[in-house]
Amino acid sequence: MSAQSANVRLVQGSRTIVPNLITVASGKGGVGKTWFSATLAHALSFEGAKVLLFDGDLGLANIDVQLGLTPDRDLGSVIAGRAELEEAVSPFQGGAIAQPSEGEKSERQVGFDVLAGRSGSGSLGTLSRQELQRLTTGLSKIATNYDWVIIDLAAGIDTAAKTLSTPSGKIFVVLTDEPTSLTDAYAFIKVMVMRDPQMVIEVVVNMAEDKLEGKRTYETLTRVCKNFLNFEPTLAGIIRRDQKVKLSIRQQTSILNRYPQTQAAKDAVQIAQNLQKN
Ligand SMILES: Nc1ncnc2c1ncn2[C@@H]1O[C@H](COP(=O)(O)OP(=O)(O)OP(=O)(O)O)[C@@H](O)[C@H]1O
Ligand SMILES: [Mg+2]
Repeated sequence: MSAQSANVRLVQGSRTIVPNLITVASGKGGVGKTWFSATLAHALSFEGAKVLLFDGDLGLANIDVQLGLTPDRDLGSVIAGRAELEEAVSPFQGGAIAQPSEGEKSERQVGFDVLAGRSGSGSLGTLSRQELQRLTTGLSKIATNYDWVIIDLAAGIDTAAKTLSTPSGKIFVVLTDEPTSLTDAYAFIKVMVMRDPQMVIEVVVNMAEDKLEGKRTYETLTRVCKNFLNFEPTLAGIIRRDQKVKLSIRQQTSILNRYPQTQAAKDAVQIAQNLQKN
């Protein structure tokens, strides 16, 4: 997808559909949304896409910590009216990749833009309707400068329900094979589908022991969704459990820089490649 093609916007009821927007959400917390959002943004930049990663979990300032960024400005400045969204963007330098060009070795810089959250400023769900409206209007405008905008949301149905009533594209629901994660993912999908049966919901199974186990987790969720909601979420991908995820977070670096050959890194890259293809 190119930034031009992402410019299309459709209005459905009161909702503005921004097709290049991906919201990463979950019912249960701690399933890997922030790590996945950052890795997906990085992987998409490897594929040549221009990406904005938006920290929708304002309470904990997760993304900048995971990526070792110290931004001058963040969403706190935007919400307080001291900066426009585009002024609060910080670059994440994702390194250089080799690119063959006419027999010569050349390099291409990869990376993406980050709109960092701010520790202690609450979640998107705690903003007033007016603040949220201003933010989402700004976001849908700046989305036209990017191929993809990824929003890392705080866990839980309430935040998502409030936030996703405004501009929305695709929702990636992240879950693990834990029974509570499965039931929370189902509850999350139920609320979203009841609000809007047209919502594009895809599933990311994270921390799977192997691909087969991940597939089983997806099938269990899909069975319940089909039976009770007459809705079948698509599988966006399965990411395997990998020790290097924790390590790269601890080292405040992207797994794609430090451990690109690990299973979890490759699985995230696969999801990015599928997104770029479709
Ligand atoms: N594929 C994986 N393999 C192993 N560990 C993982 C994997 N994905 C995430 N984790 C671990 O899960 C922990 C939580 O990750 P992360 O902070 O991204 O979750 P979250 O869903 O954003 O949490 P919250 O709901 O609190 O925002 C991380 O510390 C990381 O170590
Ligand atoms: Mg998080």
